[in-house]
Amino acid sequence: LRGDEILVVSNREPYIHEQDPAGSIVVRRPASGLVTAVEPVMRACSGTWIAHGSGSADRDVVDRHDRVSLPPGQDDYRLRRVWLTEEQEQGYYYGFANEGLWPLCHVAHVRPVFRESDWRHYREVNQRFADAVVAEARSDDPVVLVQDYHFALLPAMVRSRLPRATILTFWHIPWPNPESFGICPWRDELLEGMLGSTIMGFHTPTHGKNFLESVDRYLEARIEHEHSTVSFRGEQTFVAAYPISIEWPTASTLASWATPEACRAQVRATLGIPEDHRIAVGVDRFDYTKGILERLHAVERLLEKYPQWRDTFTFVQVAAPTRASLEEYQAFQQRIHALAERINRRFSAGGRGVVRLLAQHHEPEAVTRLYRAADACLVTSLHDGMNLVCKEFVAARDDEQGVLVLSRFAGAARDLPEALVVNPYHVEEVADALHRALTMPPAEQRERMASLRSTVREFNVYRWAGHMLADAARWRLRERVSRR
Ligand code: G6P
Repeated sequence: LRGDEILVVSNREPYIHEQDPAGSIVVRRPASGLVTAVEPVMRACSGTWIAHGSGSADRDVVDRHDRVSLPPGQDDYRLRRVWLTEEQEQGYYYGFANEGLWPLCHVAHVRPVFRESDWRHYREVNQRFADAVVAEARSDDPVVLVQDYHFALLPAMVRSRLPRATILTFWHIPWPNPESFGICPWRDELLEGMLGSTIMGFHTPTHGKNFLESVDRYLEARIEHEHSTVSFRGEQTFVAAYPISIEWPTASTLASWATPEACRAQVRATLGIPEDHRIAVGVDRFDYTKGILERLHAVERLLEKYPQWRDTFTFVQVAAPTRASLEEYQAFQQRIHALAERINRRFSAGGRGVVRLLAQHHEPEAVTRLYRAADACLVTSLHDGMNLVCKEFVAARDDEQGVLVLSRFAGAARDLPEALVVNPYHVEEVADALHRALTMPPAEQRERMASLRSTVREFNVYRWAGHMLADAARWRLRERVSRR
């Protein structure tokens, strides 16, 4: 694909410009698995990234074409910001994407909500982004990388205007079985939109298989299981699994990190954690799919069952604010705050509480410090496409210490069996795994961590993108040859 034009489309932008209270402009990195994965790829490939301009100072830094060069001061690629009205953002993003598709695909016992008006905005915004793709394209056959559930309709919209484009759509969240997916009133339209893609990528073969079965069930399409392709209205889509990952830290990143001892000292000092305490961390968006409630119950159970931890253990949970105007999220956040307070009343280790709930945005450097300070990291999502927190934790531990406790319902569990893999709904099992993590001898920690590290180092985000782009290149070649 050397020399070919690359366009990325996602809802979330990689850098958000905000007005701080003193009136100056600050730039923030959002908490988003998608951004974590796609941003390093864009730095390597350059091209244009099209995303929603959601920051309060986003308009102040763009040129007259709504573009800004990124990363700040480095200028490796450009971001074209698309502005949405409040109504559009409400209907397309909060409504259809996050009250409809998010619970529909995660099947985490939160009922999806489908409103006619949200659907209208979803279609409208997909069209606006498709128009932006066409406007930004400098050739008639660009490579368009469409990201996630915000843009199920966009591939077919772009295909109708740029028939020669190579459209790679990656679905960053799970895809449910056909019965679960079938409750969506617009299931056929969503599938038809996605089949505008040349390649439809998922994290795991199971999600890909669920997608093929949904197409088979609801559309008049021909599926070739042997080649994993769908033929629909004269076009073919290749469906495959591409497990997403992170950028492995470079030598200069490694050199910029404080030692694990220094990180521990700093985290202890900042949070007032006594010297002799073991520390476990959780790092998530404040989202009901992440299993934070069950995780806190497991911490409580640990203290009941293994009283030796009552004065020697602190659990730090980073919960990054997310989608907070939605009722479901507000109710969830209140429940978590109440539960953390209750546990802290019961077990107030050193007077400060055993659970430290940090419900604020943390920049990547602060998160890395926490990973490096921790004896254990708990990733107990109820359902997750992949989950990149567990991979970030592994990448942060060049000392080969620290134990990962990982949900078997995160896509990552397939690739990281050396973690302590648990059922996040089984509180007793998670409490026992946490105890095991906190008492694991350093030699066993080293053995597990070394193996996890070699997997994540090798199967890094460039592999993910490389694999997809190599499939796209093969596809383009075939098309060119068949047109001759
Ligand atoms: C998940 C989704 C991403 C999204 C991220 C953060 O990882 O797959 O598309 O960007 O969550 O959520 P937000 O709604 O803040 O973008």
